[in-house]
Amino acid sequence: MCGIFGVTNDPDAAQTILAGLKRLEYRGYDSWGIAVKDHLRLKLEKHVGKISLSRTHLPSSHFGVGHTRWATHGGVTQANSHPHLDCSGKLAIVHNGIVDNWATLKKELKGHHLSSQTDSEIIAHLIERELPKGDLLSACQKTFKRLQGLNAIIVFHQDYPYLVAAKSGSPLVIGVNPGNHLISSDTASLLPLTNKVIYLEDNQIAQIFPDLVKIMSLTKQSPIKPRINIINWQAKQADKGKFAHFMLKEIYEQSQIIDLLARSKLYETEQLAKRITQADQVFTVACGTAFYAALAGQYFFSRIAKRQIIPAIGSEFYYHADFLNKKSLLIALSQSGETIDTVQSIQHAQKAGCRVIGLVNVPGSTISRLSNQTLLLEAGPEKAVASTKAFLAKLAILLLTAHQLRHQPQVGQDELHQAARVVRRVLHPDHLSRIRALSRKIVSAGNIFVLGKGQSYPAALEIALKIKEISYIHAEGVPSGELKHGPIALIQKGTPCLVLAPDDETYADIISSALEVKARGAYVIGLSPRNNPVFDYWLAVPDCSHASIIPHVVVGQLLAYYLAVKKGFDPDMPRNLAKSVTVK
Ligand code: G6P
Repeated sequence: MCGIFGVTNDPDAAQTILAGLKRLEYRGYDSWGIAVKDHLRLKLEKHVGKISLSRTHLPSSHFGVGHTRWATHGGVTQANSHPHLDCSGKLAIVHNGIVDNWATLKKELKGHHLSSQTDSEIIAHLIERELPKGDLLSACQKTFKRLQGLNAIIVFHQDYPYLVAAKSGSPLVIGVNPGNHLISSDTASLLPLTNKVIYLEDNQIAQIFPDLVKIMSLTKQSPIKPRINIINWQAKQADKGKFAHFMLKEIYEQSQIIDLLARSKLYETEQLAKRITQADQVFTVACGTAFYAALAGQYFFSRIAKRQIIPAIGSEFYYHADFLNKKSLLIALSQSGETIDTVQSIQHAQKAGCRVIGLVNVPGSTISRLSNQTLLLEAGPEKAVASTKAFLAKLAILLLTAHQLRHQPQVGQDELHQAARVVRRVLHPDHLSRIRALSRKIVSAGNIFVLGKGQSYPAALEIALKIKEISYIHAEGVPSGELKHGPIALIQKGTPCLVLAPDDETYADIISSALEVKARGAYVIGLSPRNNPVFDYWLAVPDCSHASIIPHVVVGQLLAYYLAVKKGFDPDMPRNLAKSVTVK
């Protein structure tokens, strides 16, 4: 979603902002812009499309703000991209979120010249109207309080020596860099400049000077002492390194992360298991890939620990929430820790007095701050829009916790180390060339089906999601038993069907589904420890007991990656998608 980056005293503000926006590119966007102060005058530049190798033509300056826009109100045009100016051209705003009451507020702006179709531009004009009655801070304060919805704004005026930031939903992080305080939508983008950050909370407004940050509560009108957090991530962890794409780099990091979690998360998973045991009922909540991890967790808890957990999609959680009470436990899973539907589910659960534990990758994120307790995924910065390593990290923690519930953490550790070994084998060049060859065979398919059963079902859903997200081929994950209830109608001669066939209690059933699709002409691709005559193409994936889902998903990630590359798409930044979904 939209990204914001601002500096207050940089020797080359325009370039630093451009570099900051590039670090925010991964969030997903379709246009971008920068405003700086040059010889006391505001100068503006806006573009449609990706930044890629673009340069800024703005004078270097020392003060300014930039924005990457992910269109919501109004098409992808230069006029609709941010920053937006007021009528005087002295004030610029950048905005992340949606102003729900923008149509009503717009009616008040008679006589103002609006040049875009966005909800955002009205904010600049509303502040302009308030400005003669006070200073920039109070004008922003009054205006922001009138905006309905989940919003974050940065305001810049050529006659004031500070930026104003306010938020009621979307994330904003202030970078503490004495002499040049910064502001951004996320922590990772600040890392090359500082590892000290202040998280702006909802309903707070900040005045950001080069040497000073003043924070106020918007509701109580009282000052708030800023709390500085130290981030332990290294800037180079957020680099592509020798890899062609972030997604590939992140796929390669996975075996190490699984080993690390198996070694280091014994205490925390034991504590989580205790909380689960104490709770009357346990829900998990998440969106997208994180939801499929939650679903896999349901199978782990049920098969390994005989314990029922109820997973819910973030945007659907509300409809289950009547069952929450003080004895319920909610486990919220999220890579970014910012996904709005997950955040709102937590807030809802907390109103019912329910305890919330966050399984989150980004330290200090909204979900980790809201949760009563956070278990960090320790996967390091994840930049590719399609989540990979954070998914596997969630699986590792859930699997270990399920074994903790049985008081057999050692078994969980062994399964995870075994899975990490198999993942390394999957990344062997011979294996990779088999997956690449497969991608060439099926690249023109219109539909791909992924069949799974039991624990493999969430893996099938996740593999299908990866394929559709980045290769734009329609893909569907199907519990094999459901084939006959619909999906089989779509099988034609040559339709690729990936069949997840670990040698476990599901093997016979899944092979029989493979025979059924084959009888209708499907091209059957088996992911299995042993070959079977029904497979037209076999990818050898050794079993690792309950953790077999881990290498299966890695094969699916790689297949999706090669399909995207083969079709000439950028796997890191798929069209229309955003890394961190912070608006509803
Ligand atoms: C977006 C991303 C997905 C991610 C989902 C949930 O849709 O594109 O990759 O799985 O959000 O994100 P979260 O940060 O909460 O895990």
